[in-house]
Amino acid sequence: MFPVVVVHGGAGHIPKERSELSTGGVSSAARAGYLVLQGGGSSMDAVVEAVTQLENNPSFNAGCGSVLNIRGEVEMDAIVMDGKTLGSGAVSAVRNVANPVQLARLVMDKTSHVCLTADGASKFARSMGVPEVPMDSLITQYSRMRWEKNLAPDANPVECQMGKMGTVGAVAVDGEGNVACATSTGGMLNKMEGRVGDTPCIGSGGYADNQAGAVSTTGHGETIMKVTLARHILFHMEQGQSAEAASDLGLAYMKSRVGGLGGVVTVDPQGNWAARFSSLQMAWAAVQKDTLHRGLYAGEHFTQSIHEPH
Ligand code: GLY
Repeated sequence: MFPVVVVHGGAGHIPKERSELSTGGVSSAARAGYLVLQGGGSSMDAVVEAVTQLENNPSFNAGCGSVLNIRGEVEMDAIVMDGKTLGSGAVSAVRNVANPVQLARLVMDKTSHVCLTADGASKFARSMGVPEVPMDSLITQYSRMRWEKNLAPDANPVECQMGKMGTVGAVAVDGEGNVACATSTGGMLNKMEGRVGDTPCIGSGGYADNQAGAVSTTGHGETIMKVTLARHILFHMEQGQSAEAASDLGLAYMKSRVGGLGGVVTVDPQGNWAARFSSLQMAWAAVQKDTLHRGLYAGEHFTQSIHEPH
């Protein structure tokens, strides 16, 4: 069994001028997560580190760079899950924190609950000493431009969002064979205030169970929730399917049953992994056995030793 970290930067269509930022971002995040494993960290430590890096990277729709709701504000969702204990923590519609994934982990580690939302999540963050950040520090010029464009009377924010997503996530297996997942997002472009998507919903935005594997999802939240995509994929793995085949079966079911497109990163406890998507693109990267794997289009798969300059 070889430890591994697999990361995604969101399913959809990535504009050409942003594709290098996306592939560079997921590659760095996967390497950072792998370094945590090499230093003796757990799979949970590794996925939180990888997703923190992606939240801090303004190219992605999570943390700084999140899309804006209809009022031009940032409300974010995140989840973590530990496959050893089935412990999970999540936050939804949370504001003014730089790293919702770290807050989700605090919900798991420090409360008896699984999900805290909105003001309650912010109050909990304050009580844990998590620094409050101004909303403006999470808003990029790009996200404000897209928000303004989608306020136009003839705009279709859902269609536009389907074209340019950027939810981020990671799955990992550590040296002890424990699996974990983490997912974080700003949600859907120009969403209603208070809208909560799939990301913080256990079984939809992610799921981890040492008896099957771990999955982090990306795509149109309203359709992912209808098929509980992460748990659906793990069901196929429990029936003997590989990480890759189970991911494809889950994505195909979501497409045929509810017309949804998306992507996933998946691992099994033996360290077998997959990065699969039904959207046009998904930036993904994985590190295993000191080798970086990455891709952006279906069928694209580059590899490189992580000791070479990138
Ligand atoms: N998959 C992210 C969202 O729909 O909120």
